[in-house]
Amino acid sequence: HLVCPATDSPYVEPAGTEPGQEIWEDFSMSFTPAVREVVDFAKRIPGFLQLSEHDQVGLLKAGTFEVLMVRFAALFDMAEHTVTFLSGKCYSLAALRALGAGELLNAMCEFSEKLAALHLDRHEMSLFTAVVLVSADRSGIRDIDSVEALQDHLIQALRDLVMRNHGLDAATTFTKLLLKLPELRSLNNVHSEELLSFKVHP
Ligand code: HEM
Repeated sequence: HLVCPATDSPYVEPAGTEPGQEIWEDFSMSFTPAVREVVDFAKRIPGFLQLSEHDQVGLLKAGTFEVLMVRFAALFDMAEHTVTFLSGKCYSLAALRALGAGELLNAMCEFSEKLAALHLDRHEMSLFTAVVLVSADRSGIRDIDSVEALQDHLIQALRDLVMRNHGLDAATTFTKLLLKLPELRSLNNVHSEELLSFKVHP
């Protein structure tokens, strides 16, 4: 089975058949535009294009899933107990669980609910997303100092924005946002494992 909202709709192979190459091809068609948008977004982060091309690619490889997770968090609707796939089709959590989704789906729902509770506006969301991307895993990054300097700069800007917008809750909101970074890293790791095991035995 393939139960990932980045695909068109959940795929369950008919009994007795092997999933073929087509399922990956259809799947790629549905998530490729979203991945391309992450690349376009990265290019618009002031300072990103000044990193070496090698390091730009490294951050994108490590961080694209995390950026998409933040961007698509709203697809996990915890009031309605539904997940909307990129195709726009909406499924109940119960249906997705019955198809084989498990702990990772639960963890993503929890992440999305807590992020929504911070009530970020569009600008805060996009600055937070920029912080997520430049905070991606640094293994393989060559010029760590430059990535760190860019990260510091973006975090400072995010802090200023949150402090201006969230009144008495500002300091807590900012702290909670930073604590989302390790949660995203962990979702990324678990999701990569599922992706890998799906590739090994679809
Ligand atoms: C599961 C691929 C992005 C959420 C999976 C699986 C694959 C996969 C192969 C395992 C399917 C299975 O065994 O049924 C990908 C690829 C992506 C991507 C190639 C490319 C960008 C995302 C994003 C999200 C997401 C951005 C969240 C916003 C999930 C969820 C599951 C899943 C909720 C099911 C977890 C569970 O079984 O509990 N994904 N995914 N994926 N993915 Fe993705």
